[in-house]
Amino acid sequence: MATHELIEKFQQAGQGQVFAFYDRLDAAGQAQLLAEAEEIDLEELAQLKTTLLGKSAASVDLGDLTPAPYERLPEAGGDKAAWTAAKAAGVEALKAGRVAAFTVAGGQGTRLGYDGPKGTFPVTPVKQKPLFQVFAEKILAAGRRYGRPLHWFIMTSHQNHEATEAYFTEHGFFGMAPHKVHFFRQGRMPAVDFDGKILLETTGTIAMSPDGHGGSLRALERSGALDLMEREGIDILSYFQVDNPLVRCIDPAFIGWHVQRGPEMSSKMVPKAYAGEKVGHFCEQRGKLVVVEYSDLPAAMQEETDATGGLRFIAGSIAIHILDREFIRRMARAADGTEALAFHRADKKIPTVDAAGAAVKPAKANGVKFEMFVFDALPFAKNPVVIETGRADDFSPVKNAEGKDSPQTCREDQLRQYARWLKSAGVTIATDDSGLPALNFEVSPLFGDDAESFAASWAKLSPKPEITEGFYLA
Ligand code: UD1
Repeated sequence: MATHELIEKFQQAGQGQVFAFYDRLDAAGQAQLLAEAEEIDLEELAQLKTTLLGKSAASVDLGDLTPAPYERLPEAGGDKAAWTAAKAAGVEALKAGRVAAFTVAGGQGTRLGYDGPKGTFPVTPVKQKPLFQVFAEKILAAGRRYGRPLHWFIMTSHQNHEATEAYFTEHGFFGMAPHKVHFFRQGRMPAVDFDGKILLETTGTIAMSPDGHGGSLRALERSGALDLMEREGIDILSYFQVDNPLVRCIDPAFIGWHVQRGPEMSSKMVPKAYAGEKVGHFCEQRGKLVVVEYSDLPAAMQEETDATGGLRFIAGSIAIHILDREFIRRMARAADGTEALAFHRADKKIPTVDAAGAAVKPAKANGVKFEMFVFDALPFAKNPVVIETGRADDFSPVKNAEGKDSPQTCREDQLRQYARWLKSAGVTIATDDSGLPALNFEVSPLFGDDAESFAASWAKLSPKPEITEGFYLA
């Protein structure tokens, strides 16, 4: 679009302030501002002004919520034969090359006090492998096991795209074939003030921020990832967050449940550990599956108990999903708004400039950022299925520098997992009551990434190594 047309479009939309300082910028600055402006969908923004800005930040529809049904694990009373059949179906899909891994890695390690793409944060007990390496080795292991090396899609953000790519190059893609690892950037949304006016960050830049992990659906389409999947015969995307090294990146039983039910999106749940645990809640609302965030579900509801005394809204979302390729495409293209993901608003302190162009550091929230959440696709999916998973073998995220969900709790959960695997392979190892071994050691996912594969590799070792402090089993 020609420069004057673009500026005029913004003026007509009541967003002319974006170019208030345009004449003061040098040519490069002008070009950058124009490029940022071009990213903005003014119609979408105008819609958000009517739909979201009128409301208070926390207005979420809580009507008619009931707990969502889910498939229980066999050890929790689920149907063992159905799980066995699901696993077999998943293995078949993997052998047929229908599956790819997908990580949303747009976030930075801000809450961890870590400066860099979160996936580069070191997490394992001995080798201090970064999150990305743990996933890469799990994906490699699955490729070897099923005879079909997997593709891995990684969504980055503007902030960390180059750094993420450089990191993989520097580390030889952690053993994966570079042509199987695909990076693409998520989209951005402008921040607006409470009247819906786009905020400038500086006189020459717009206050833009990532559009949330829900933006991954659009980004998968826009980047050509869906077309690539189609060409490669991939129709199943295994979705996980960058913060959780315990995740089974490729879980045949989960994939099998998905394939057998023929749904468009599937999710894993864990029973919440305690009422106030900060996870989303799987609920049903007027016949649809929805996730209600911890910040949106009133404490009274989070604490509600059922007839057995257990938590009523027990199903916690650990942000692990399976998505059907053509479902993603449909959602990404839903331009008429009927099936498009809704935006959520977050009121924030957004650094900006005043009418004279001087920097303003607001002391309280002065505007709104918009984000989409991937789980908001669930109500649009046909036959969505939620399955239970064992927390100890699927979920221990690194979110905070200390306390819950910290590097320490995550390291201990990895150690407990190794100790369980050793025990089930017949090795005695000293642990405390929580199952935490006294020794610090590490198992590579390439040696074993679940009890079964660990036991198989262990059986082949002769002589058996002694597990000592700092031992690494690779
Ligand atoms: C999230 C979920 C919560 C779930 C919990 C489990 C949301 C809103 N909440 O909480 O339901 O129970 O994880 O651990 O998601 N990301 C992007 N781009 C973005 C924003 C996020 O790629 O624009 C990625 C991050 O890199 C990360 C993931 O999405 O991998 C989660 O983001 P985060 O904001 O940390 O979510 P939580 O609040 O921890």
